[in-house]
Amino acid sequence: MNHGSQLDGVTGASVIVTGAAGGIGRAVAEAFAAADARVVLWDVAEGVHTTAAEIRARHAAKVYAVCADITDRAAVREAFDFSESAAGDVSVVVHAAGALATGPALEAAEGAWERCLSTNATGTMLVASESARRMAARGHGAITVITSNAASTPRVGMSSYGASKAAATAFVRGLGLEVAGRGVRCNLVSPGSTETAMLRQSWTGAADMDSTIGGDPTTYRLGVPLRRVAQPQDIADAALFLSSAAARHITLHDLRVDGGATLDM
Ligand SMILES: NC(=O)c1ccc[n+]([C@@H]2O[C@H](COP(=O)([O-])OP(=O)(O)OC[C@H]3O[C@@H](n4cnc5c(N)ncnc54)[C@H](O)[C@@H]3O)[C@@H](O)[C@H]2O)c1
Repeated sequence: MNHGSQLDGVTGASVIVTGAAGGIGRAVAEAFAAADARVVLWDVAEGVHTTAAEIRARHAAKVYAVCADITDRAAVREAFDFSESAAGDVSVVVHAAGALATGPALEAAEGAWERCLSTNATGTMLVASESARRMAARGHGAITVITSNAASTPRVGMSSYGASKAAATAFVRGLGLEVAGRGVRCNLVSPGSTETAMLRQSWTGAADMDSTIGGDPTTYRLGVPLRRVAQPQDIADAALFLSSAAARHITLHDLRVDGGATLDM
């Protein structure tokens, strides 16, 4: 997308980006700052303040940061209050916070499934619901949630992660239906392998960049038809589009950005 230019529905808007200390969230925050939005970065990691300072140094936009755990209902409300007092009424939310959990479906480390569901399912429900409630009261808004192609395509060693993303997907689509009549759009972006810390964390055994792109029959992975893994910018571009006025008639949509890896819609 053409960054650094005016984008209807984004330029001048107040925007929250969660997971903004991570690879995809940071790229999303940077894309909105380049389009001259007022951006509030959320993350549980303290590094979010450094990320905000770095983005502020490169763009003229107003950039703020808050440390918040999205699995904590009160913390989500407080972070929202902070965001709106700093940047004004929020009309765009991109929710990129998430956590990977890997391991066999036959056994789980103590608490691993619960942590995964809490971050990816409950965390998404809390952020999306709070966002939609405030936006619906004002009659407009766009929420974009980053899920994963693992929500619908089974992956060896990723059953709990896939379940958590499928739960998030179902919630966002149901929420979107409830608030569509009040001017709030709710969409999903489903990335495939994207070059961030999370991708490297997902590699177990002999898995690496070559097997990610080329495929691995031992784990029933087909590879990536476009012969590359996504860069965080590829996911940010999709989120920017869905948040903009160019997507004004799009809601309940799940935009897959995986280079064709799941041979699916
Ligand atoms: N990288 C990939 O290959 C890939 C593929 C598909 C989907 N995704 C999804 O994209 C999103 C972004 O992933 P990424 O690759 O940038 O990962 P990342 O690990 O680089 O970033 C995730 C960020 O979320 C934050 N976070 C985790 N738990 C949190 C909590 N409870 N409260 C607030 N912040 C929290 C982390 O601190 C981190 O900064 C995630 O939802 C992930 O599941 C990633």
